[in-house]
Amino acid sequence: MKEHFITPYIRVLHSDIENHPLFEGFWPIPHGVTLNSYLVKGVKTALIDLTADWQEAIAGFNRQMDSSGSKIDYLILNHLEPDHAGYVAEFSKHNPDLEILTTEKGAALVRNFIKVPESIKVRTVKTGDSLDLGGDIKLDFYEIPNVHWPETMATFEKNSGTLFSCDAFGGFGKTGEKIFDDEFTEEEHKFYESESLRYYATIVASFSTFVEKAITKLTEAGLEIKTIAPSHGIVWRKNPEKILQRYIRYAGYNTGKEQEDEICVLDSTMYGNSRKGLEAVLEGIRAVKGDNYKITILQVPQDDLSVVLATAYKSRGLVISAPTYEYKLFPPTAYILDLFNRKHFYGKKVLRIGSWGWVGGAKKEYEERTQGLKWEQVEQYEWQGVPSEKDLETLREKGKELASLL
Ligand code: FEO
Repeated sequence: MKEHFITPYIRVLHSDIENHPLFEGFWPIPHGVTLNSYLVKGVKTALIDLTADWQEAIAGFNRQMDSSGSKIDYLILNHLEPDHAGYVAEFSKHNPDLEILTTEKGAALVRNFIKVPESIKVRTVKTGDSLDLGGDIKLDFYEIPNVHWPETMATFEKNSGTLFSCDAFGGFGKTGEKIFDDEFTEEEHKFYESESLRYYATIVASFSTFVEKAITKLTEAGLEIKTIAPSHGIVWRKNPEKILQRYIRYAGYNTGKEQEDEICVLDSTMYGNSRKGLEAVLEGIRAVKGDNYKITILQVPQDDLSVVLATAYKSRGLVISAPTYEYKLFPPTAYILDLFNRKHFYGKKVLRIGSWGWVGGAKKEYEERTQGLKWEQVEQYEWQGVPSEKDLETLREKGKELASLL
């Protein structure tokens, strides 16, 4: 495997994960994910973030560690989620003299969550603390809580201007033999941009306020960041500002500040009646916005849940078309609304429609599930079975009403 260095004393160790079907146990990763660790060599050697206890990750990591011939003196744990720390207990058995450095909350997780034995030394660090590796190489620590868990921090190496940010500024998608931003074509960057949005919407979106705070904190600290080295995906050495600005935009999607002027349609139907109504809504939207206005129609539950979240997350407008099912809202749509609540998808303009069979019920459940979402909503519209001409005319008007809010 090709070796990658940020500077002669900072090596990137990265493993492409291709065979782990679901990230966090439920997010599809059809294009894989990359797990990055970093070796920083002064007189002493630090390893920044480890890897998961997945066979594929361990094999990739150990291959690169062996070729580096390094003995690890310090293990810096920016974040304790098992995709970065799952291998720590086993690794520390083979490296019993290493010292772990992490935040106070991280130290508690080292013992209680990943069960590293008491014989391994743990040093607690906070913002303002540093680790001197000798040879004029020093690592500075900055707590950035809740990006992604409460214990998270970032590590900065001043000489090279490298920020080791763990989950922050990361994305899905394996990177293969390449790892630096300047090695990818424009076309490849487009692909990784959609993978970073899918990653952000599913993994980070809930914590957007903390992302904004972390970026402010690192900016106010006056760090001269020349390279952003996250633990998932591309290392940004040519244009770190690109991923920084992208994350500022993604965090803004959460509140409505930065959403894209487009509509995401969640299309659920049991026998086609809700879809007939949806078609009339789309006619109404296009009558106001024109045929070139961006509308992305996703099938629920057929389409990848993470694509649904990513598309809905960035869009200012939502159309939710879902019928009544057993006196309540169509269950796959209810599940997605639950995720929207958990991930705080606020500040959108929304229309929900849907048909019912012998009795309604979806409307009430929908109201309950969306009352905390701070959405501006066109009043819902429901009808029985096949939509009548009058229903279709009303649905066209509903589409126009939504379009006029955008
Ligand atoms: Fe990549 Fe929150 O772990």
